[in-house]
Amino acid sequence: MNHWALRDHQLILHPFTRYRRELFNIPIVRGEGALLYADDGTTYVDAIASWWVNLHGHAHPYMGARIKEQLDVLEHVIFSGFTHPPAIALAEQLLRMLGLPYEQLFYSDNGSTAVEVAIKMSIQYWKNCGEDRYKLIAFNNSYHGDTFGAMAVSERDVFTEAFHQHLFEVDFIPYPTSENLEDVKYRLEDLVSRGNIAAFIFEPLIQGAGGMRMTKAAWLDELMLICRKYQVLTIADEVMTGFFKTGTCFATDQLKIKPDFVCLSKALTGGYLPLGVTAFTDAIARSFHSEDVHHTFYHGHSFTANPLACTAALASLELIEREKTYAKTLQISAWHQRAMEEFKAYPMLQEVRSMGLILAMDVQTSYQDYFYNNPIREVLYREFLKRGVLLRPLGNVVYVLPPACITEQQLKGVYDIMHEVFEQLNELKHG
Ligand SMILES: Cc1ncc(COP(=O)(O)O)c(C=O)c1O
Repeated sequence: MNHWALRDHQLILHPFTRYRRELFNIPIVRGEGALLYADDGTTYVDAIASWWVNLHGHAHPYMGARIKEQLDVLEHVIFSGFTHPPAIALAEQLLRMLGLPYEQLFYSDNGSTAVEVAIKMSIQYWKNCGEDRYKLIAFNNSYHGDTFGAMAVSERDVFTEAFHQHLFEVDFIPYPTSENLEDVKYRLEDLVSRGNIAAFIFEPLIQGAGGMRMTKAAWLDELMLICRKYQVLTIADEVMTGFFKTGTCFATDQLKIKPDFVCLSKALTGGYLPLGVTAFTDAIARSFHSEDVHHTFYHGHSFTANPLACTAALASLELIEREKTYAKTLQISAWHQRAMEEFKAYPMLQEVRSMGLILAMDVQTSYQDYFYNNPIREVLYREFLKRGVLLRPLGNVVYVLPPACITEQQLKGVYDIMHEVFEQLNELKHG
């Protein structure tokens, strides 16, 4: 057994990784573009952008140079009572990109904290306004992160089971489809009309970890309109969707009704350093602009607005312009559309779908335990890895979400490997 893998196995507990005595994590020692290099010389195509974070590729020289430059100037400073140019420049740029109605933002460390901040601010907003609204609404099957507030508004399943008695009460409504839209609208209106709802949180256009489930902007607009009618705040969790995943820079760019909060993280820094952002409207901001101590937002993290992370985000935004990232993502989307037609030919693949950088499909399986004990997931994951492709199915949902820098040849290689594995599975089934 490889030296690094063995030490890792002895010393480190990994995220979302079920412990198995015989399973070892793969030591990656280098990255370049869409490729990852293991210490034994094996190369992997990173077809999921390292958990949806990477935008311009691994070890991009410009990203490295900008972060190193900042490292020699200021690596970190407390963000309470102090500020620094990268945080201000980034706030200016992000708010310009998001456009109105977003006028201020709050920095944190990752996607879960960006959500946590939105939840806390939405509840405190109502306290600051003197109204007793404290409950949240979320979609079934959603995923908003792993801190307690984020878990509370996420699907209650095996992933959160150990903590259920500690999670605050949330009203869940079904994710809208053409069949249930009217029912969802009815249920939402029934809930928001009760007067105790602070906010409605949702993943715009696509539920990521919940299995790459897509919905329509027009349906979300209808739901947001109902929230607006009853002054319920809306929180768009763009942690996954932000930065071109859905065909526009932000998924909310496709909505006519703009949410009160937008949460960003993951690809915000191009995938180089952890950073969370919660952007909000002037009305929210004003409720905290008071000399009354009860109106203060008492929340912060040691590394809030870390200058290196802010610089990485600024560098990534510069690269988006310089390397025409948007055009690249449109090209990938076109390749996905073509590939989709070929995957539709397999009877075992259902709901082959695509949106922006994402191509997804459900592998038919007789196992009902969708996420956890579904052996098809393990089989597919191992078979893809064996062939040098990092794809990490969500239960029986296989999806591709590459960094925008992936080449046509690399992406075609990923599709080819998927065909190879699906054909092998097909033969096993019929053999
Ligand atoms: C929609 C959404 N929100 C929040 C999170 C949590 O982000 P993080 O893992 O950075 O805490 C994720 C992570 O996958 C996500 O997909």
